[in-house]
Amino acid sequence: MCGIVAYVGYREAYPVILKGLKRLEYRGYDSAGVSLLDHNGLQVYKKKGKVAQLEETLVGQALPATIGIGHTRWATHGEPSDRNAHPHRSASGRLAMIHNGIIENYAQLKKELQNKGYIFHSDTDTEVLLNFIEDIREKNECGLEEAVRIALKRVTGAYVIVLLDQENPGTLIAARKGSPLVIGIGKNEHFLASDASPIIEYTKEVVYVNDYELAILKEDELILKNLGNEKLTPYIQKLDLELAAIEKGGYDHFMLKEIFEQPHTIYDCLRGRLDAKSGQIVMRGVDNHIEALSKAERILMVACGTSWHAGLVAEYIFEELCRIPVEVEYASEFRYRNPVIHPGDIIMAISQSGETADTLVAIEKAKEQDAMIFGILNVVGSSIARASHAGAYTHAGPEIGVASTKAFTAQLTVLTMVALRIAYAKGTISQERYLHLLNELEQVPAKVETALKTEEQIREIAARYADARNMLYLGRGYNFPVALEGALKLKEISYIHAEGYPAAEMKHGPIALVDETLPVVFVATRDSYHEKIVSNIQEIKARKGKVVAIVTEGDELIRSLADETIELPACDELIAPIVNVIPLQLLAYHIGVQKGLDVDKPRNLAKSVTVE
Ligand code: AGP
Ligand code: GLU
Repeated sequence: MCGIVAYVGYREAYPVILKGLKRLEYRGYDSAGVSLLDHNGLQVYKKKGKVAQLEETLVGQALPATIGIGHTRWATHGEPSDRNAHPHRSASGRLAMIHNGIIENYAQLKKELQNKGYIFHSDTDTEVLLNFIEDIREKNECGLEEAVRIALKRVTGAYVIVLLDQENPGTLIAARKGSPLVIGIGKNEHFLASDASPIIEYTKEVVYVNDYELAILKEDELILKNLGNEKLTPYIQKLDLELAAIEKGGYDHFMLKEIFEQPHTIYDCLRGRLDAKSGQIVMRGVDNHIEALSKAERILMVACGTSWHAGLVAEYIFEELCRIPVEVEYASEFRYRNPVIHPGDIIMAISQSGETADTLVAIEKAKEQDAMIFGILNVVGSSIARASHAGAYTHAGPEIGVASTKAFTAQLTVLTMVALRIAYAKGTISQERYLHLLNELEQVPAKVETALKTEEQIREIAARYADARNMLYLGRGYNFPVALEGALKLKEISYIHAEGYPAAEMKHGPIALVDETLPVVFVATRDSYHEKIVSNIQEIKARKGKVVAIVTEGDELIRSLADETIELPACDELIAPIVNVIPLQLLAYHIGVQKGLDVDKPRNLAKSVTVE
């Protein structure tokens, strides 16, 4: 959601910023802009639409500036349009600013400024903050840095801002609260970006800016301060990220590349942690806190979207293996509910990006009640990672496609290992079942590899169902959250309305929808509910619904009932979701592609949702 790139150094800033904005496109946006500062002063170029459209309007222009800021906007205040796009210019024309996030008290500040005679040229909260900063600077006759500090103390909401000042041409000023910001440190140059992807080809040395920090960047100087104007020592980290990991590598789309990476990413996630032979799971984040985790009286899974679905699968796993009650919460609801948190509760925050604002604020609220936060996160050094007390990374690598795929299977893999580790420590699992599940987990990469071989068949099925208006996804037990995830993938990628349900719940209402036009996808691999789900398939067939069944190989009974049967290798039911979701990811992908949609960047969606 929204991308920020800024540069100060010796290179031409525009190509660096443009390339960086393209790298951030995956986050989702609706307009793009840059502001450059050279001997002719400050220029702003911005446009609704893709970065490529902005690029077209600038072809052939000499843009020699060596300092500049760039932005992709995901509109929150005011429609996507040229005039609402960032950067914005202050009333005097002296400052230009980009912003990611929301200024919650913008309406009140706007009124104050309008009363002073300020005229606004956009509908954004951003322009309000910018003029507020300018007004403070003029009124107090102070430097820009001081004005930013004063302004931010009065602002509520979340932001990353970066400012360019015509009167101070070699300096960028940036600040953060609640939205991500990384500084790249080069030799006589500095970079700023929403994540490391625009930076890695120039430098591997980065500093993650924390909330309430201000960064003042010149080509050869980096100063980090808090809002109290105290200097801080920047903590420089080495990036463990290769450029190839964020490029498409021969696939048509990032989503397909990421689906096919899963045998590898799951393997990476297990590697060095699970050893089935010796019967060991070693996870430092868990081992260091094993006492608190084993004594947990309740686990609260807090997440959004696909990560929330991973939490639902984990609810079944933790309750079965660890005998710890689990509640799975939508972060956006949890944070406002004044939740009851007891001393023995553990909050597990699950997030691919580690930047989801709802999840971040939810755990901060929980921390106020002294809860222990355990993060299941993909992005190392992300805001949620830094806000957690302990945790385990999923090691799935950068996920660029807006629809989460490999992050989900990695989350399930980590959550299963964490549950097994705790169950072992608590003694709530038999040695035999423990070793069996370790073995099963070890085989997952190979089984996912086999599941990916269904792609050709799924492409054909996708062609038959691409015109559907609605679809239902059904499953029971461990496969119920898989059905929810399948439906979410289809909605996101193909814009077909889809619902996930526990199969047995059909008869309590949704079965009224079933007729010969309704495709129903059953996740019906062999498990303890198998006979029951066969009956549910019969119920749909009796009402002429079309059945697409995901089954365990050799399931002749379901094959004889279903219109389409997709076979997967046999798995223990507890592990099966990791394998069963693969054909559902492929189905959503191929329907989206056949409908000619932009599967990597579906409309209205953002990869990382850094606003409420
Ligand atoms: C999944 O395909 C999504 N686009 C979305 O639901 C996502 O899972 C959600 O926004 C949570 O993101 P996070 O895992 O980065 O916190
Ligand atoms: N709230 C700002 C706007 O609507 C910034 C949105 C963003 O993060 O892109 O322009």
